[in-house]
Amino acid sequence: MTPLSSNAIVIVGAGIIGLDVALVLAKRGFGRHMTVVAEHLPGDTSPAYTSPWAGCNFSGISGSDKNALRWDKMGYAHLTDLATHAEKDSFVSRTKSVEYWDADAPQDKIKAIAEYLEDEQFRVIPQEELPRGVEYGISCTTVTINAPKHLVYLHNMLKDQYGVHFIRRQVPSIHAARLSSQTKIVFNCTGNAARTLAGVEDGKCYPTRGQVVLARAPEVTRNMMRHGRDEETYVIPRPQSNGNVILGGYMQKGNSDPSTYGHETESIVSRTRALCPSELRDGPCEVLAVFSGARPSREGGARVERDRLPTWGSECALVHNYGAGGTGFQAGYGMALDAVSTVDDVLAAVGKDGEAMQNVQNVV
Ligand code: LAC
Repeated sequence: MTPLSSNAIVIVGAGIIGLDVALVLAKRGFGRHMTVVAEHLPGDTSPAYTSPWAGCNFSGISGSDKNALRWDKMGYAHLTDLATHAEKDSFVSRTKSVEYWDADAPQDKIKAIAEYLEDEQFRVIPQEELPRGVEYGISCTTVTINAPKHLVYLHNMLKDQYGVHFIRRQVPSIHAARLSSQTKIVFNCTGNAARTLAGVEDGKCYPTRGQVVLARAPEVTRNMMRHGRDEETYVIPRPQSNGNVILGGYMQKGNSDPSTYGHETESIVSRTRALCPSELRDGPCEVLAVFSGARPSREGGARVERDRLPTWGSECALVHNYGAGGTGFQAGYGMALDAVSTVDDVLAAVGKDGEAMQNVQNVV
């Protein structure tokens, strides 16, 4: 039997989506048989690398379709588990949360999340307590994540504990991600690049620009979001950051401009002050930095789907897993579980750490 190659499984992309797939596979024993190939790795900043710019929390910002509801539920379970068992290392914390909708509150979704949110204090906020212009509001316990630190945590754990191999490389096509004839599965976790990457070229993908402000505001201990008619306004405390918060935001469909704009910063500061009057209006709000990022959105929602990648004269399974928009951190783990389950048959034949490669020719 041939020793199992470190590129039996290749993941393209090291944003939260690719790293969550690597984590699911690593937990199943495939750590040393996996290579993550990515243009950018945790610790990098680039307009082409969206994940570190995320807010980042579990919220009602996701869609209400069946998949989005399932992925949210699985993501909530994963993130609360991290908050319980690895809060310090993973930079994931439980946080009190208030969410407001100015119109069209997604009742089916709120009903679905209310069933699994772990706290007994979930409540619909009485009409008379809602700020002017808000139609509906809830309070509950959510999770907030220090996005750049969480990415580094996953990267280090995957490398050091599970033996996952990382290569910094921009692939010219999805076919080039099949690193050798021994590669049996390629996961396409390329986010915005799925629109242009040769062999994928998914015209349903589009960027949704956001701008956020990193500010020091230690008085803020709860997550506050207001889903407006045309804009999103939020205040998200950043775990283990010495009192920093992310203030946002914008949802500019089709826009990937990496610049940041002073008038948008002013609008964010004034909107978030109105949202959190006790914590932000009177106290100092020291702006530390301003960022913009392009969410990897997709018409119809994320694509999690098995496909084929014929190269090297033989077939290889290709699993698409991209298009999470602004929900990568909350939906990513559920998407990863689904993506991996599409290739259970190939994985069964690939074998695990310590085993040797079986004949997988007939299952892809
Ligand atoms: C966003 C975060 C808050 O997309 O989910 O802006």
